[in-house]
This record gives sequence, C-alpha cells and structure tokens, in this order.
Amino acid sequence: MPIIQPSFLLHLRHQLLQWYDVAGRRLPWRSQPGEIPDPYSVWLSEIMLQQTTVATVIPYFQKFKRLWPTLIDFADASLEDIQVVWQGLGYYARARHMHRCAITIRQEYKGLFPQHVDHLQRLPGIGPYTAAAIAAIAFNQPVVPVDGNVLRVMARLFAIKEPLPHAKVQLAAHAQLFANEERPGDFAQALMDLGATICKPRHPLCSMCPVHTFCQGAQMGQVHNLPFKAPRPPRPQKYAEAYFFVNEQQAVGLRRRPEKGLLAGLLEVPTSSWEDHKPASFSTLKQIRHSFTHFDLTVGLVYIQPPYIFPTDCFWVPLNRLEQYPLPVLTRKIIEAALSPLNKKA
Ligand code: ADE
Repeated sequence: MPIIQPSFLLHLRHQLLQWYDVAGRRLPWRSQPGEIPDPYSVWLSEIMLQQTTVATVIPYFQKFKRLWPTLIDFADASLEDIQVVWQGLGYYARARHMHRCAITIRQEYKGLFPQHVDHLQRLPGIGPYTAAAIAAIAFNQPVVPVDGNVLRVMARLFAIKEPLPHAKVQLAAHAQLFANEERPGDFAQALMDLGATICKPRHPLCSMCPVHTFCQGAQMGQVHNLPFKAPRPPRPQKYAEAYFFVNEQQAVGLRRRPEKGLLAGLLEVPTSSWEDHKPASFSTLKQIRHSFTHFDLTVGLVYIQPPYIFPTDCFWVPLNRLEQYPLPVLTRKIIEAALSPLNKKA
C-alpha cells in the first residue's frame, strides 16, 4: 500500500464529517446529534439493511420498534410472530438469527449488547461488517465498517485498479486507515451516505462531492470506471414445478420447508425438487421467476384438479388468512399467479 499521509486522512475525515452534519440522511434508527445511540435500534436496522434498500427498510423498522420497543420485548416474542412481520424483507434466515441473537444477549449479556467487535461477531447473524457497524455507530469504537458502498468509495478515492472481488482486502485496508476515536459512528454513516447519495455506482455526482479534491479517481477521470470488476460467471438457473391445490373451502395446500437451509421453516406451495434442467413435462401455462442470492428459479405452475391425493406433508391454509402465516415472496408470487386470470404470465 502506498504511504498515505496522516494529514490527508484527517483532512478528508474532517471534510466528510462537516458534510454529514449538514447533508447526512435523517433516518429513524439514527440518533440525533448529542443523543446517545440505542444499540437495539442500530442492530435492528443494520440486520434489516443487509441486502435491502433504506427505503424498503424504513416501514419495517418502524413496525418492529412499535411491536417490540426493546431487545427484551423482541427476545420474548415468538419466532412465528417475527417471521410474519418480516415477510417481504427477504433473506428470512435473518429473522431467525435475530431472534436467537436477542435471546443470547438476554441470557449471556444481561440484556445488554457487548460493545467489542470480537464479541459482537460471535452472536448469531452478526458478521464482520455488522459487528463493525454496531461497534462504531452504537458504541463509538474506532472501526470502519466496510460494505459495498465503502468499497466503491475507497476504489475511487485511491484509484485502485485491481478488480473486485480480489480487491476487497486492499480496499478494506484502505478504509481502516480512517479509523479514529473522533466520531467513529458518524464517520461510518457519513461514508455510507456518501456512497448511497453522491458516490453512486452508475451516476456519481462528483460536482457535489465533499471530498472531490481528495479523489484520485476523479483526478484521473476514472470515477465512472471504478471499481473495476472481474467478469461474473453466468447465474445458475434452476427449475421446478409447483403443484397448486385449492379445496372447496377456498383453502390452498401448503407445506413447511425444512428447519435448515433456504427459506427455513417457512411455508411453500409444494414443488418438485429444484433441478438444473427443466423437467420433461415443464408447465408452460404459467411460469414464475424468482431470484435468490446465488441462483434464479423458474417455477412452472400445475393446477391439481380433483379427485386428487392430498400430499401428507401439506395442510390447508384458507386464502383469506394467508396474512397470518410466514410466507416468503416466492410463495406469494406462486399463489398470486395461480389465482390471477389465465394466460397472464407472472
Ligand atoms: N446501510 C447499512 N447501514 C446503514 C446505516 N446505518 N445508514 C444508512 N444506510 C445503511
């Protein structure tokens, strides 16, 4: 790593914090200037914000805080209730890990979040990024959490040409150069806001950037090209048929997924196993597409007409009571497609 002058780092920090004081986003989980941050709110928001946008998270965060104002309320809640409110946020394992995390903190830490990154990282659902974010934002520990936004800002600021994902280690090391006792939480959130509102992936607003004069990428006219990215392999595709049962009482046949793995413990329309190739008899009547983190799934819908043998691992859920059950987006998409008029592709 080239030598970076401490005065450069301090000056840049100062500029960014000044900008944050004026232009930082006012978000419901953030403390006001002078207010002590609430670790429970910080944790809740950081977990929700993993893989999800700020705009999507805000109403969920507010609802969670209304239903479970404290960590103890949350630990006392049932997982099923949490999963129902979590619906639509995706990556459902987060809800289960959060519940286990809250119970662990109640049992092992007397209901108080540990403050150190290493302790935080041992809790369920808390990885290196989230541990650093909680430590910095809730407890003013001098660490810099590094997410995709921060990687991009670093790649541009220091004009780092090594492509992602290899460059991650180098970019994270650059970010840590900014770790400092002075307002670590505000600095972390200032970097996040800079990445989200100014140093955006496709249309960076360099003319409005508070640290433009420090940016080597801008000086080299390379901001739009940075960070460089290694070509991605094509996304794996999977296929399955979904079997839609409706009875005369207007109830749909659903089953619970296994307690481990993808969409663990949530309800689904029964499907064939998810394969890398289309089944020979793949339904073209209606197809539903859904993207998971590591693959895309295409589901061919099959209406099961009476008389039928109802699968033993399924149970009936009245269509007008679906809201009360933890249904992942995929299940909702399949039910919606099944109930929508024919020849409309989902
Ligand atoms: N993304 C992740 N953490 C965030 C935070 N605290 N504020 C805004 N965006 C974020």
